[in-house]
Amino acid sequence: MYSVAIDGPAGAGKSSVAKAVAAKLGFIYVDTGALYRTVALHLLKNNISADDVKAVEASLPNIEVSLAHKEDGQHVYLGGEDVSSLIRTPEVSMMASTSSAIPAVRKFLFSLQTGMAEKYNVIMDGRDIGTVVLPNAQAKIFLTASPEVRAKRRYDEYIAKGEDADYEAILKDVIQRDYQDMNRETAPLKPAKDGVIVDSSDMSFDEVVEKLTEIVRSVMTE
Ligand code: DC
Repeated sequence: MYSVAIDGPAGAGKSSVAKAVAAKLGFIYVDTGALYRTVALHLLKNNISADDVKAVEASLPNIEVSLAHKEDGQHVYLGGEDVSSLIRTPEVSMMASTSSAIPAVRKFLFSLQTGMAEKYNVIMDGRDIGTVVLPNAQAKIFLTASPEVRAKRRYDEYIAKGEDADYEAILKDVIQRDYQDMNRETAPLKPAKDGVIVDSSDMSFDEVVEKLTEIVRSVMTE
């Protein structure tokens, strides 16, 4: 089995790039952020604050998270309900960033992630895939871009969907999430020692896909 780890900050383009590379190589794309978002959605629905670590820990046995991979990509379920769209709100993003700092939450989602890599050739994206979840992945990529570029990309996505967007608010959000993700004690966001850093600030989408495909192909032929 081959495993490819793609880590990096929010908005670096990990998911769209990973999806494209997975399609090219026939690998399964696993979006681990969706798992943290699903836990966050459960906490929000049940009015549990991420500051109340005991309450979060107590709620974990009641959370049933599962994944399915269909023609149109990954779907994530909370207690049998497909929540793939519901988890894509700024409120869930922030709650996922906060609650994912709790070690018990990370432990709760660990085997679901490693289980996927045992069964399939995967391209898995997240924050700690190369460092913690799949330390033996054959390829580890840290995909990044400047906060301004990442905020602008997110802004453009909202506008393209016909939604309202405030660039300054998005930038503030990006910077705050970076800080939280990089400074937590458990599994902070950082490049793996044996990973390749790719800065996509001045690269087009196709260039990034090309570069990553090349990196993965090079380890597959070794
Ligand atoms: O990739 P994303 O924006 O959907 O992730 C949402 C949050 O989940 C992110 O702020 C940090 C957390 N996360 C994590 O801690 N570890 C991962 N492997 C993936 C996401």
